[in-house]
Amino acid sequence: VVDIRRLYAQTGAFTYDPGFTSTASCESKITYIDGDAGILLHRGYPIDQLAEQSTFMEVAYLLLNGELPDGTTLEEFKTTITRHTMVNEQLATFFRGFRRDAHPMAILCGVVGALSAFYHDSTDIMDPQQRMIASHRLIAKMPTIAAMAYKYSVGQPFVYPRNDLSYTANFLRMTFSVPAEEYEVDPVVEAAMDKIFILHADHEQNASTSTVRLAGSSGANPFACIAAGIACLWGPAHGGANEAALNMLREIGTPDRIPEYIARAKNKDDPFRLMGFGHRVYKNFDPRAKVLSKAAGEVLEKLGRNDPVLDTARELERIALEDPYFIDKKLYPNVDFYSGVILSAIGFPTTMFTVLFALARTTGWVAQWNEMIADPEQKIGRPRQLYTGATQRDYTPVASR
Ligand code: ACO
Repeated sequence: VVDIRRLYAQTGAFTYDPGFTSTASCESKITYIDGDAGILLHRGYPIDQLAEQSTFMEVAYLLLNGELPDGTTLEEFKTTITRHTMVNEQLATFFRGFRRDAHPMAILCGVVGALSAFYHDSTDIMDPQQRMIASHRLIAKMPTIAAMAYKYSVGQPFVYPRNDLSYTANFLRMTFSVPAEEYEVDPVVEAAMDKIFILHADHEQNASTSTVRLAGSSGANPFACIAAGIACLWGPAHGGANEAALNMLREIGTPDRIPEYIARAKNKDDPFRLMGFGHRVYKNFDPRAKVLSKAAGEVLEKLGRNDPVLDTARELERIALEDPYFIDKKLYPNVDFYSGVILSAIGFPTTMFTVLFALARTTGWVAQWNEMIADPEQKIGRPRQLYTGATQRDYTPVASR
């Protein structure tokens, strides 16, 4: 009998690292995180500076090209993105194949994957120019598709892009306009939305980005690779946490019920976790959560909304951060803890939250995909395993089992 485990041991170095907690899958120049210090840099620029001072289009350009654009380059980039906002009219028919009550992430996953059928022959991924066109198409079409997914779910007609508006204003208008009433984009809402997009744009080798890289490593069509990333992002341990966090805060309802939920989160026999809390890499604080905590208060105040969910969130954070369980395990609010409060105030249903995350993260996904394909050392991603199944044995016919 062959002892397969011993065979593995004899073949030399082998790392067993479930969840890849300490294995780098690639080299990258895009995003730097120091989880202990709560630092997040895109191409060297701190996330709080980008969130406070730049725009999502600048950040998208930065992630994709490595440098901040000057004024002329930024205008050219915005024009390029604007030119690609339309989707093929046949996609409207494709949408109609979905149930109206389908989760918008299910629709997004299907529709973005379907783009590969529209841009199959024109995508030579070894040609940098072709890669850039595919990247621009994805960044440009995501808001259109995301808004269409929303419109379809509420039974309203699709709204076509209006290219005189900014990327973010155009998305808000496509989402909230109805034929009888044009949505007037409030600059406060536009700025808050843009900030949320910036904060979600990239986060190095998280699960969905690693999925995009792994799918892309076989040379697959980029639109299909991004659909794979969307599928991964949907899970509640990843991008789905923003939806789960707001649902949890609404369920808690009032600050007096917080201790009950804290007790549940600490109980090992209860699978419940505080959603929007904890992070694989940040063990001090998530710098994105800090920006959003501040922004949530500002947006609600400027919009004249008094949502008790913000009070619940703040009180939950205060109590948890004084609790030895959360202190010992280094659990802090993550980016998803406060984003839902803002998105809800803007008017998005919780089912759209992860769609918005996917829209923003598309910039990071395409930047990482480009970096990987351009890397001369790039290989197909093919993790190994530690086999723990049966050792070799002989087949026995059914009659003699
Ligand atoms: N509530 C209660 N306990 C928690 C929580 C939480 N939110 N998060 C982690 N813990 C506990 C775990 O039970 C575990 O305890 P143990 O050591 O006694 O077994 C310990 O903290 C470590 O947790 P792991 O799950 O091993 O840590 P990991 O790094 O694998 O997971 C994750 C990180 C998935 C983010 C986790 O903290 C979690 O599930 N959080 C809630 C979901 C969430 O907010 N996800 C969004 C992440 S950010 C993003 O994707 C943009």
